[in-house]
Amino acid sequence: MNKRILLTIPIMAALGAFAGAQTRDAQLPHLEKRGLVTQLIVDGKPFLVLGGELHNSSSSSHGYMKPVWPQLAALQLNTVLLPVAWETIEPTEGKFDFTCVDQLLEGARENNLRLVLLWFGAWKNTYSSYVPAWVKTNTERFPRVQMSDGRSTERLSPFSKAVRDADAGAFAKLMGHLRSVDGDRHTVLMVQVENEVGVIPESRDHSAVANLAFSSPVPATLTSFLAKHRAELDTELRGVWEAAGGKTTGAWQDVFGKNPLTDDLFMTWQYATFIQQVAATGKAQYPLPMFANAALIRPNYEPGQYNSGGPLPHSIDLWHAGAPALDFLSPDIYFNEFALWAGRYARPGNPLFIPETQGGAIAASNALYAFGQLSAIGFSPFGIDDQGNLPLDLAGITNPSERSDNSAVKNVYVALSRLAPLISEKQKTGGITAALMEGEAQRSARLYPGDYIANITRAGRSATGERLAAMFIQTGPNEFLVAGSGDAQITFSSDKPGPPIVGIESIDEEFYENGAWVPRRRMNGDEDSQGQSLRLYANDLALGRIYRIRLYRYR
Ligand code: DGJ
Repeated sequence: MNKRILLTIPIMAALGAFAGAQTRDAQLPHLEKRGLVTQLIVDGKPFLVLGGELHNSSSSSHGYMKPVWPQLAALQLNTVLLPVAWETIEPTEGKFDFTCVDQLLEGARENNLRLVLLWFGAWKNTYSSYVPAWVKTNTERFPRVQMSDGRSTERLSPFSKAVRDADAGAFAKLMGHLRSVDGDRHTVLMVQVENEVGVIPESRDHSAVANLAFSSPVPATLTSFLAKHRAELDTELRGVWEAAGGKTTGAWQDVFGKNPLTDDLFMTWQYATFIQQVAATGKAQYPLPMFANAALIRPNYEPGQYNSGGPLPHSIDLWHAGAPALDFLSPDIYFNEFALWAGRYARPGNPLFIPETQGGAIAASNALYAFGQLSAIGFSPFGIDDQGNLPLDLAGITNPSERSDNSAVKNVYVALSRLAPLISEKQKTGGITAALMEGEAQRSARLYPGDYIANITRAGRSATGERLAAMFIQTGPNEFLVAGSGDAQITFSSDKPGPPIVGIESIDEEFYENGAWVPRRRMNGDEDSQGQSLRLYANDLALGRIYRIRLYRYR
């Protein structure tokens, strides 16, 4: 073999490996703008995460999980969200043990489930309870957030480079391991970096290093981002910034004013830029989509009464500026005003993914609304491993009334998984819409499917104020599939040019059989008030029933 060939073989091998890696990366789960929306693409196709998040400590035990996996599959989840804790994978500094991760992958694969991993690194619900003992006990090397009276807290400092590098280092090892064991299987779809960060009960860190940063200039990366995106900024953020003069230089209180929100924005920047390092270091190993989640704010709460520094609606712009390695920010929605909170996160540049929310009956309506109206990429009730079979302490609850009956989650996931290809297709073109009626006060709702107006009012059991949703998917100029989660009566009108009166040509109930929606009864009599309205029933999802309605217009 001559010299030339000898040199060429390694180069070609390297090029081949590079091309291979590139093709493989293009096939990894990723986010992609398709038509009007950003979708999660898995194995080349849009994927709606019909998820559920485990209680915090469930995934730490293979024994605990063994009987749980099939239960999760039986619930018709396609994805499980579960924590991987720093202390589990790096119990001794620099020595990594991925047995637990591998067992989780195995459990998921055996049950045909995908995973979204939650990296419980430096912070979990503001605290640092899941960090390894060698980090927790060495407060000199790994400093803490401090209170204004000088007391230390159980929270690692987001200002510490040592904390950041140790966290990012462990996370990078995790992502590297995932690439090696799952890079061609795609069991893991996405990763949440940390969990519900922020400080509480004071609005900011008062350590010496934090005080110094607070009186130092706001980084130019942030001020130039604000200036460049002024027109699109969150109105609350823009309001405080402009009220303080809209400056692009100065310390935090010069730029954002002497008000409590400034403390929140200051901490936000610190957490965002810390997490940026962790996420970017992890992505360099294995570039899966990544996100951070927020504990939301109760009305009129001040920073410090809520997690000050988390990815809240008013600070999403700071996260976009400081943590571009994150693909989106997510709300954990435990409040009843689901549409309000989900809507604040479903915005341009931030696809909606809800990693934690209430399960039980209300989840069915919320899921229909999230996918149908807000083009969500995923929905995931929390504590999904409690199927009513766990002792209360293992379920993480103290009161039996807190148990969720997740049969409604199962029913809506069955419907959504059957409709998923159509939903994904219609999300791209706007041919899907949904309404959510959330409280007794909300007696009616209006939707605009195609050229029509759907006037939805409560009926039957829903008359007392139960949550309900109705989703319309356009399948032709005058034809729609309708899925609902409660008792409702729907009449139709139109405000488009043309004949003014809308009639119902036909309504068929349809059931899913052998991979297709098949009509059963034609409902043009009592069931639809002799062609005057479409009636949805509370048990539609349980029965697996949807409706195909055809409308027409006349004078
Ligand atoms: C929100 C957190 O993110 C979860 O880890 C869990 O603690 C739940 N709260 C409990 O409701």
